[in-house]
Amino acid sequence: MGLLNENDIKWMEEIWSQVEDKLAVVVKRSGIKIPYTTKDGVFVDKFAEDPSWWTNGFWGGMLMLLYEETKDEAYLALANQIEDRMDEVLHMVEEGIHHDVGFMWYLSSGLNYKLTGNKKAKTRTLMAANYLASRFTIKGGYIIAWNGTDRQGWSIIDSMMNIPLLFFASEETGYSRYKEIAIAHADKTLENFIRPDGSVNHIVVYNPETGEKLETLGGQGYEVGSSWSRGQSWAINGFAQAYHHTKDQRYLDAAKKVAHYFITCISETGYIPLLDFRSPKEPVYIDTTAGAIAASGLIDIAKAVPSHEKELYLSAAIKILKALVEKELDVTTDTDYLLRNGSEAYWGNKHLSIIYGDYYLMEVILKLKNISE
Ligand code: GLY
Repeated sequence: MGLLNENDIKWMEEIWSQVEDKLAVVVKRSGIKIPYTTKDGVFVDKFAEDPSWWTNGFWGGMLMLLYEETKDEAYLALANQIEDRMDEVLHMVEEGIHHDVGFMWYLSSGLNYKLTGNKKAKTRTLMAANYLASRFTIKGGYIIAWNGTDRQGWSIIDSMMNIPLLFFASEETGYSRYKEIAIAHADKTLENFIRPDGSVNHIVVYNPETGEKLETLGGQGYEVGSSWSRGQSWAINGFAQAYHHTKDQRYLDAAKKVAHYFITCISETGYIPLLDFRSPKEPVYIDTTAGAIAASGLIDIAKAVPSHEKELYLSAAIKILKALVEKELDVTTDTDYLLRNGSEAYWGNKHLSIIYGDYYLMEVILKLKNISE
């Protein structure tokens, strides 16, 4: 895009090469583990404990990004083994499987199919898309989050990140029904989640019989009406992706609106997001994953807007990346993780390594590196 200067480009290449060197070692010693976090710096196999855990697709996604960038077949072979392991979850049709199937298959099997044409990977991705489509409620007009007949009215901002799976399914099969569901869900989310100031609710509860908005919940944030930073970053990234697939300006405008709010909030804390932008000043909790997810979405916004608007989004993405790299990145081979200080929820585990922080960090570096090439 011509907006990165030579020093930034050199720096980005250096960071990528450190990350790639570290992951080459980590991949070899991790075998077929499907990690979520680490214990004493070493990946723990989350799949063994909970096969349908929502983050179980990110490591396969990281292997596919490594394959895409390096063309090293060893990464692809391991990604295929990991996808074989995940097949068990595709058969958990009643309970176990849930709304996060986009995270679980699109980033790994979806990219595998796009890069290699692997039929098995395509089938897995389409099975996941069929499942996600089946969670759409016709009367309510949204994709239902989580399981349980008592929670049929629940919808969450995170699902904006799952609907790219549906856009993919329409693009791949030619059937528009997947895309229609994605658009209906995105429209409902646009209307009910984004607040006038650009902040975003985590959970909206609807009447499943009518689609009427009943209440909002604090979810993984501090409280009702607060501003959980990862939720804000899912909105930036999710609406930017919805724009990419539809070219509907309303989605891009939504992504920009939340981005403006997010950039304002992080400029107060050295470009590392607080866990919740509307929580008490003390104790200070941060969430590095929110930074990486937002930065990835900001780059997509920069690609979509006219040239005179690009700099705002690109420069914010670079500032976030620099802050993450300088303060929170571990490129030593003593540990398996990349980013420190991810947080699950305000009232949950905080300041730990979390696999999706690493996934989105890789995505950010590669998107910026490829823009500059
Ligand atoms: N999708 C759940 C989370 O962001 O923690």
